Amino acid sequence: MAGPSVDFWQQRFEAQDLPWDRGAASPQLAAWLADGTLASGQRIAVPGCGSGHEVLALRQAGCAPVYAIDYAPAAVALARTNLAQAGFNPPDDELLQADVLQWQPAEPLDGVYEQTCWCALHPDHWAAYAAQLHRWLRPGGRLALLGMQILRPGAAQGRIEGPPYHLDIGMLRALLPADRWIWPAPPYPAVPHPRGWTELAIVLTRR
Ligand SMILES: C[S@@+](CC[C@H](N)C(=O)[O-])C[C@H]1O[C@@H](n2cnc3c(N)ncnc32)[C@H](O)[C@@H]1O
Repeated sequence: MAGPSVDFWQQRFEAQDLPWDRGAASPQLAAWLADGTLASGQRIAVPGCGSGHEVLALRQAGCAPVYAIDYAPAAVALARTNLAQAGFNPPDDELLQADVLQWQPAEPLDGVYEQTCWCALHPDHWAAYAAQLHRWLRPGGRLALLGMQILRPGAAQGRIEGPPYHLDIGMLRALLPADRWIWPAPPYPAVPHPRGWTELAIVLTRR
């Protein structure tokens, strides 16, 4: 498999080297809960959940089940600890060690909260991941996407650098095509990250 391996991510968690981790849920998640994009009672997936801040916030908002998926065992363990400290003890089929390119929900979902999992995958896997996102959702389901903007100088020479990989808006339009997804009109909110990155906040509806 091209790009980072499960061992890469496992080592980052074991070393507690988590530069992407805000230490709390993204403020954009609160915005999406406030405007009804994501809501109580919805069945949500959080691919590449990491330490689980957003999983906890979704559970606290009444979303259930919240499927928290990560293939690094140390990420799943950390998320389980963080959720337990807040009084949540999800079953193994809701907080699970699995590859997002392989996992399937038992039933179609109402929403997917995608934050820094897509940009953690090598571009060789993007078409397969986009197909997964479409497969997971019911018609009318929402993809709440935070598209990492981290264009690197090497791109001008054709180099692919990351993670995090830059999620170009043209690429997103090509892999989430308008005949399968309803796109809102730009401009999209640019959510700042403490590391100096920004993420485009885009809510797509699955056709
Ligand atoms: C950059 S971190 C983001 C974690 C979390 N979403 C956040 O924003 O704090 C990427 C996460 O995706 C996980 N990941 C990467 N590739 C994956 C895959 N193919 N299947 C499942 N998890 C994956 C990594 O283990 C890591 O926890």
